[in-house]
Amino acid sequence: MAHGLTALGDFSCRATAIDLGSAMMRMYVEGRGIVASEPSAIARADDTGRMLATGTSALALAHRECGVRLIHPIRNGVPAETGETEDLLRYLLRTHHRRRYMSKPRMAVTVPSVINQVQLGAVRTAAFAAGARQLTLIPTPIAAAAGAGLPSHGEDVAIVADIGAHVTDVGVVLSGELLTGHIALVGGSTMDEAIAAYVRREYGLIIAPLAAETVKLAVGTATVPREDRRTLVHGKDRDTDLPRTVEVSSADIHAAISTSLDAIVRAVRTAVAAAPPEMAGHFFSSGITLTGGGARLAGLDELIRTGTGLRARVAENAAEATVRGAASLLRPIKGFESNRLPPLGHRRRALARH
Ligand SMILES: Nc1ncnc2c1ncn2[C@@H]1O[C@H](COP(=O)(O)OP(=O)(O)OP(=O)(O)O)[C@@H](O)[C@H]1O
Ligand SMILES: [Mg+2]
Repeated sequence: MAHGLTALGDFSCRATAIDLGSAMMRMYVEGRGIVASEPSAIARADDTGRMLATGTSALALAHRECGVRLIHPIRNGVPAETGETEDLLRYLLRTHHRRRYMSKPRMAVTVPSVINQVQLGAVRTAAFAAGARQLTLIPTPIAAAAGAGLPSHGEDVAIVADIGAHVTDVGVVLSGELLTGHIALVGGSTMDEAIAAYVRREYGLIIAPLAAETVKLAVGTATVPREDRRTLVHGKDRDTDLPRTVEVSSADIHAAISTSLDAIVRAVRTAVAAAPPEMAGHFFSSGITLTGGGARLAGLDELIRTGTGLRARVAENAAEATVRGAASLLRPIKGFESNRLPPLGHRRRALARH
C-alpha cells in the first residue's frame, strides 16, 4: 500500500512545463516530452455562456457551428482573464497527465520578460488553482535560449528573439540570467490582421483571420519576394456581402506585413542596444537566435541580419523551444530526483563528493 502511494505520488509530481501563448499552449511532461500543442482557446455557447470545449476542439467547434463564441484568455502573452486561464491549465493537466485527477505537479510556466506584478499574480493564481504544487515562472527568452540549446554557463551571451502570435520578446541572456529584456506587441497574429486589412482595402474582400493566416503561410515572406507566388483567398465582398475569391501575390502579402516586420526588427535592435557596451564583442560571435512560431516566416533571419548587422538563425523546432527550455530548467539535479530538493548546503556538500 505504502509502495503504491509512493508510485502515485511520484507520477502526480512529474515536473511539467507549460508555455501559455496567446495563440498556442504547449505542455511538456518530464519523461514523456511534449504532450500537448493546442490553440489556447475556449469555446462558449453564445446564449448561455456555458463552456463547450477547450483547445483544438474549441477551434474546430467554432468553425463548424453557429452560436459558439471563441475566447482567447491569453492576450499579449499574459492572462486577460484569470478564471479562463485557470480553465486552460486545468484542461491541460486533466487531459494530458495520465492520472487525471491526482496531478499536482511541480510546474514551470513561461512569462514575457517584461511583465507587471498584477499580470504575474494572475499567472500564479491560475497555476495554483489549476493544481500546481510548486511553481517557477520563467521569462520567455531564458526558456527559449535553453530550448534552442544555447550555452547557459560561463561568459557566453545569447540573444534570443521569440516571435509569437502577439508578442515579440527579445532577451540578452548571460549565464542563464536575463541581462536585458524587451517586448513589442507584434507577432504572427498582428501580421494576419494586417493581411485582412490589406485585402479588404485593395480587393474589397472581407476575410476571416484564419484565411489571412493561411495566405501568410502559403506565400508570406519577410524579405522582398524573389519569385511571384500566388494563392487564392475566399471571403465576402465588402459591398454586396456575397462570397468572392481573389488571387493574392507574395508581393501583396509582403506589402501588408511590412509594418509588423519593421516593428520586429526595431524590437530586436532596442534589446541589443540596451545591453552594456562590453557585450558588443560577444554579440558578433553569438549572433541572434530566433524562436517562436512567427520565426518560421520565410526570410525572417535574413531580415534581422540586415536590420542589426548580426548573424541570425532560426532555432530548430522554433515554436517548441520555449516549452522545451522551460522543462530543461526544471529538470532535477542528478542524484537529487526527489520532489523537494534538500537545502542548498546539503546539495553543495553532496556535489563536492562527486
Ligand atoms: N511557417 C510559418 N510561417 C509564418 N508564421 C508562422 C509559421 N508557423 C507558425 N506561424 C505563426 O506563429 C504564430 C504562433 O506562434 P507561437 O505559437 O510561438 O505563438 P504564441 O506563443 O501562442 O504567442 P505569444 O508568444 O505571442 O503569446 C502564429 O501567428 C502563426 O501564424
Ligand atoms: Mg509564445
